[in-house]
Amino acid sequence: MKVTVFGAGTMGRGIAQVFATYNHDVLLIDVEQKFIDNGINGIKSSLNKLYEKKQINEEPAKILERIKTSLKIEDSKGSDLVIEAIVEKFEMKADLFKKLDEFLDPRVIFASNTSSISITRLASMTKRPEKFVGMHFFNPVPLMKLVEIVKGEKTDENTVNYVYDLAKSLGKIPVKVQDYPGFVANRILMPLINEAINALMEGVATKEDIDSVAKFGLNHPMGPLELADLIGLDVCLDIMNVLYQDFGDQRYAPSPLLKRMVASGKLGRKSGEGFYKYK
Ligand code: 3HC
Repeated sequence: MKVTVFGAGTMGRGIAQVFATYNHDVLLIDVEQKFIDNGINGIKSSLNKLYEKKQINEEPAKILERIKTSLKIEDSKGSDLVIEAIVEKFEMKADLFKKLDEFLDPRVIFASNTSSISITRLASMTKRPEKFVGMHFFNPVPLMKLVEIVKGEKTDENTVNYVYDLAKSLGKIPVKVQDYPGFVANRILMPLINEAINALMEGVATKEDIDSVAKFGLNHPMGPLELADLIGLDVCLDIMNVLYQDFGDQRYAPSPLLKRMVASGKLGRKSGEGFYKYK
């Protein structure tokens, strides 16, 4: 199968890596060569780590040979599936899907890795809403088993079942969810992170202690503030805004501290500083 992944950021590169690891030909497309280069470097270092730890058996160089790159969306012609993992902005995603819809064969399935934008709304930008589905992967993609398979209002069962089986064949654990704000994972996770940030803002405990509570009292692999840094504080804020607007419920109001940190450019690991500092 040939799959095209749009966006070589954290999620897109992870998705490309997983498909290539499981023997699929992948085309990774982004808008600038530097994003592609960063993406490929990230994939190399992840594959090397997994190979050293014997979590994959095939040599990284061989897996990398199955990943081609491009700056032109037209090169996705001939794909069986496209997966979009570009920035979380509706207009940009809609624009990409509209363009793809014009030249890709009508049988091609369109999947979005969006963490919070409505699949139904995105699908309505195309003439193939029945072939449009959410495939929501988790960070870090090569390690996290879950994929939320999101059914839009018009997504047909064949499409849902196709990507469900495909996710399974990639060693993942897919779950089917309906198209509601935050789907399931982020609807549960983001309010937890947001509340941890409010607790920090109110001085209930230090950041280290808030994270320790979750790690050693709740058995979470990471504390919520460490996890927010991994996900990206801008992404957390975008998702809280969607939950807040779409449910219209005060309990989803983004923490003022989260807003302040994003405004100051403290976005977590990717910017070198979030709740913690990174080299
Ligand atoms: N590829 C390969 N190896 C990786 C990797 C990657 N992408 N990312 C991390 N690793 C490696 C680390 O380098 C480390 O290797 P080492 O032991 O040789 O140093 C190894 O994995 C284990 O990492 P850690 O020592 O940090 O230990 P952990 O046991 O904590 O594992 C973790 C890391 C899997 C990230 C774990 O901490 C975890 O599960 N954290 C929670 C992640 C989570 O909740 N993700 C979901 C976020 S929500 C989301 O993505 C949805 C979106 O819409 C917002």
